[in-house]
Amino acid sequence: MSSPQILLIRQARIVLPNGELMIGDVLTRDRQIVEVAPEISQTVVATEIDAQGLTLLPGVIDPQVHFREPGLEHKEDLFTASCACAKGGVTSFLEMPNTRPLTTTQQALDDKLERASNKCLVNYGFFIGATADNLPDLLLAQPTPGIKIFMGSMHGQLLVDGETALESIFAKGSRLIAVHAEDQARINQRRQEFANIHDVAVHSQIQDNQAAMLATQLALKLSQKYQRRLHILHMSTGEEAELLRHDKPSWVTAEVTPQHLLLNASAYEQIGTLAQMNPPLRSPHDNEVLWQALRDGVIDFIATDHAPHTLEEKAQEYPNTPSGMPGVETSLALMLTAAMQEKCTIAQVVNWMSKAVAVAYGIPNKGAIAPGYDADLVLVDLNTYRPVRREELLTKCRWSPFEGWNLTGWAVTTIVGGEIVYHKGQVNTQVRGQALTFL
Ligand code: DOR
Repeated sequence: MSSPQILLIRQARIVLPNGELMIGDVLTRDRQIVEVAPEISQTVVATEIDAQGLTLLPGVIDPQVHFREPGLEHKEDLFTASCACAKGGVTSFLEMPNTRPLTTTQQALDDKLERASNKCLVNYGFFIGATADNLPDLLLAQPTPGIKIFMGSMHGQLLVDGETALESIFAKGSRLIAVHAEDQARINQRRQEFANIHDVAVHSQIQDNQAAMLATQLALKLSQKYQRRLHILHMSTGEEAELLRHDKPSWVTAEVTPQHLLLNASAYEQIGTLAQMNPPLRSPHDNEVLWQALRDGVIDFIATDHAPHTLEEKAQEYPNTPSGMPGVETSLALMLTAAMQEKCTIAQVVNWMSKAVAVAYGIPNKGAIAPGYDADLVLVDLNTYRPVRREELLTKCRWSPFEGWNLTGWAVTTIVGGEIVYHKGQVNTQVRGQALTFL
């Protein structure tokens, strides 16, 4: 039998489950946290981390990423993406089905799980994608956090946009349905109206607020009708947030991305097509309404929608450019910088980026620093600021919409299952995450 892996983190500023901060020690044994106390006397030999001056948070769970493997590995793969996660303090992720082949069958899901077990440095889970005719797979696939439906912004089989087709999915079974809520009919119509315009700024007008609102209304209607567990992915507009504020069933959750909180359509002027994503960036007013909804608990948590494309792909002319931007390396620092600017508290960031995600998806033993919880942790430095630098990024696409932003709260050390996977710029590529389970 191999000896237990013991880690002792000394004198960190620990964010406790109740949101309070305590200077203290955390002891982990194998994959679990075993003790949290002001001072732990340790007799057995352990790897010690001196965390004085650093803040210890539960590892980030990013519940919406596109890691491109299999089939689109020129943009990203599970190894490069999970290295980027480790650097960003992301210890678990939930990945989307628009890979090649699409993740629409148990076989494709098993293939992803197998690939991830071989090369993923952090913990992983994979959505099953809905098509118009894979209901048996949607009902039975395991393990998965839920069913992903693209109501718009997608071509081919993964687009499920008719109310009848949607209703047949909502009506059967009980597992979580996560929707990309944009109305494809409206997008198609607007695309014709704005044809021949190659300025990427038109993207936010084609896929406008109303396109998002129409789809969110429909998803909510179907969810109400069948009392079906619904999650609204990357909510982008003030209108949707206000709709939820007034009528949010207890079985509905919603998320927002850092970019929909922190960037708006003015970004097209500075970074052009790098700011193009779906749903698109909106207005400063939308930013503020989304922030307020997040603070008020109308929006439950944060996801990055990490969706890398190469710079060559992004250098084409709109509308031939692909939508999406990377995010796992910058999300935690962006949100902690917002906390330092008093837009929110550190405890809220921990809730939105870890605890609330674990609760919503029923991921056991994650999201808190307490005995019995998994030893997925991140030590961050809230004392220094450092800019986002392209040359330091580990995502295969090697760019960020936040390049040049001066941020604090960068991960110093990331721990997955009690093992140090990232420390001061170095990734330990020997570490492997585990498949997440869902209650
Ligand atoms: O901008 C986006 N890009 N939004 C999505 O929903 C899909 C993603 C991608 O896969 O590139």
